[in-house]
Amino acid sequence: MTSSVTLAPETTVAIIGAGRLGGVLARALRAQGIVVYGPLGRGGGVPDVDIAILCVPDSAIPDPAASARRTATRIGHVSGATPLDDVDFSVHPLQTFTGAESPDVFHGIGAAISGRTLDDQRLAEQLARTLGASPFEIDDVHRAGYHAAASFASNFVLTVLDAAEQLAASAGISSDEARDLLAPLIRRTFDNWQSGGAAASLTGPIARGDEVTIARQRAAVDEADPALTSLFDELAAATRAIAREKAAA
Ligand SMILES: NC(=O)c1ccc[n+]([C@@H]2O[C@H](COP(=O)([O-])OP(=O)(O)OC[C@H]3O[C@@H](n4cnc5c(N)ncnc54)[C@H](OP(=O)(O)O)[C@@H]3O)[C@@H](O)[C@H]2O)c1
Repeated sequence: MTSSVTLAPETTVAIIGAGRLGGVLARALRAQGIVVYGPLGRGGGVPDVDIAILCVPDSAIPDPAASARRTATRIGHVSGATPLDDVDFSVHPLQTFTGAESPDVFHGIGAAISGRTLDDQRLAEQLARTLGASPFEIDDVHRAGYHAAASFASNFVLTVLDAAEQLAASAGISSDEARDLLAPLIRRTFDNWQSGGAAASLTGPIARGDEVTIARQRAAVDEADPALTSLFDELAAATRAIAREKAAA
């Protein structure tokens, strides 16, 4: 089927995949008056709909896409990294979802959109705007890099915060207390980065060129958990590069 679809209250949408994002997306579209089927699990078939949106793991997209092709006029996915090989459009909400979020979770966030045709691109844009998100275009060539940026901004931040929590525990601070104590530091660092970028925001021993303190920190990390030493070394090397950028500015 090749006819175009425009999003309207009577438009029918099937959400395929009842995981973290599928349920939230179904609730949010329903809240906007769209007729939503699902989120649909495995093996249930896809009803005749205008739009099917795949909310399955990236590697699982081809099979349900082929099934949905039989009954849906247009098919999209919500994957940041996956090209449009099996679908007509993509809407990738630039947010992290655990599944418990309310429908307004999409308000004000970015959404990477793309479409095989201009009509598909417009449909992706309409979906993003209907959710309250701000659409921006991303093409297949740049998808993986764009998605890696999102992983650095969310997944890897958690990796670093978890290391901080572990090191605080080795200094006798409980996990709950560490998260409460570190949160204001994290928030201010984030605010500074948002307004001026990393080089302008960098403080601490690396920014001061204080090699004695860096060496003492490294030894403490090695003693607390040797598994964190290589992470410390990699992060210190990357942070030194930012400090050099700051010095050259
Ligand atoms: N979560 C996020 O923060 C987030 C953010 C932006 C974009 N996304 C995108 O959203 C998509 C889904 O991610 P997720 O985090 O929601 O994953 P998830 O929590 O793992 O959920 C995926 C769901 O898809 C189901 N599934 C797998 N194969 C299926 C099939 N053939 N037919 C029907 N359902 C099938 C899985 O069922 P089983 O449990 O039975 O395998 C599971 O319920 C991915 O493309 C991801 O890139 C996620």
